[in-house]
Amino acid sequence: MPQNVIIEPFRVHTVEAIAMPDREERENALQRANYNLFGLRADEVIIDLLTDSGTGAMSTKQWAGMMVGDETYAGSRSFFRFEGVVQDLTGFSEIIPTHQGRAAEKILFSVLAHEGDVVPSNTHFDTTRANIEYQQAEARDLVRPEGLDPAFIAPFKGDIDLDALRTTLADDTQNVPFVMCTVTNNSGGGQPVSMANLRGIRALCDEFDVPFILDACRFAENAWFIKIREDGYADKTPKEIAREMFSLADGCTVSAKKDGLANIGGFLAVNDPEIAAQCRNLLILTEGFPTYGGLAGYDLEAVAQGLIEVLDENYLNYRIRSVEYLGEKVLAAGVPIVQPTGGHAVYIDAKALLPHIPPHEYPAQALAVELYREGGVRGVEIGTLMFGVPQDDGPDLPSAMELVRLAIPRRMYTQSHIDYVAEVVIGVAERAADISGYRIVEQAPWLRHFTMKLEPLA
Ligand code: F0G
Repeated sequence: MPQNVIIEPFRVHTVEAIAMPDREERENALQRANYNLFGLRADEVIIDLLTDSGTGAMSTKQWAGMMVGDETYAGSRSFFRFEGVVQDLTGFSEIIPTHQGRAAEKILFSVLAHEGDVVPSNTHFDTTRANIEYQQAEARDLVRPEGLDPAFIAPFKGDIDLDALRTTLADDTQNVPFVMCTVTNNSGGGQPVSMANLRGIRALCDEFDVPFILDACRFAENAWFIKIREDGYADKTPKEIAREMFSLADGCTVSAKKDGLANIGGFLAVNDPEIAAQCRNLLILTEGFPTYGGLAGYDLEAVAQGLIEVLDENYLNYRIRSVEYLGEKVLAAGVPIVQPTGGHAVYIDAKALLPHIPPHEYPAQALAVELYREGGVRGVEIGTLMFGVPQDDGPDLPSAMELVRLAIPRRMYTQSHIDYVAEVVIGVAERAADISGYRIVEQAPWLRHFTMKLEPLA
């Protein structure tokens, strides 16, 4: 058997036609959407790399599981299957299903975080940050400095800066309700966190008597990176590594729309029964009874099966390698990206590609719009639109990086789709000097990037 080509470890079972809007249709769509790619319709997009969240293809076993989904309101069989799989994976005893990750965050933060608190993490993703700020607390990003340097190559650029975490804990112990860590670090280029770093966080949390919560949406991809990059893990299975990661934390919030391989779903898991009881009370208020938590019984089946399949070595090897393949292709053509390539996405460094556009004119948004205009490829801005801080009297405080994320849905696109994306990226990069910026004409008070309206400056 040839060893060099890593094939998709699945066959296509059901197909979905891709729309092929022409240039004029794309131009009209951009105008209608006010240059916000969240405003596009599915049929206006050729290759959709907006997100890897809930967009993947489910397996025959997941669909089969949906047929045996039990819709009993209280005490559903599907809940007990889901609970068993999550307990076996995470080792946590209290398992609370939610409709997606941000619902788990909202509930946990409502119980644990208060006005004036500081919640450190490597980098909070948009919904975690917004849910913490909604509690009037501070979401503090403490990724190691190399994690903010796109071109710097290191195996675990998602690691927390442990010295900075110690300083925060020593200065603000009274005000730190828990420490978080996002695996992999989505806003920082999908970079993994090492087991050594997770152990370091655990030790500091023990020293300062603060709980440690993992944002574990992409736990399996992180486990694979540990297996192939960290000493001592080559012979361990992804499941053993994932279990060790969870064993270092006191709880986790998870969006099952990523490594749960499901289209919807999430959960919150902890060991502390008192915290769990308070969370379940809120769950009943906003999500549903604790044995379904905002999901249908069939969704619980799909997530349970997805959490098993995602740890398959052939799948993870293909997954990480196929994302890296896109990274290699565009990098070879001189397009600056976050290196090494992340687990679920290629992140183009718009600051390096479009140095003539200042942060308050949103270079990464300008690039994302251009990728759509050129080839119907939809990515997402992860820069000042998403994370900048609007000011009353002057330009936004800029985000640390200006990135366009091309997130690859799981088990969905083939190599030729990815070759096409590379061609589009390279085509746009060749005329980078001609691209100009944008200004905001309308925005919401939080998570503004989802709904804001923009206008081209030139
Ligand atoms: N944490 C991380 C690291 C995430 O990437 C996301 C979602 C969430 C929490 C929230 O989960 O969407 O199920 O409520 N990220 C998606 C993305 C939306 O495109 O990266 P959710």
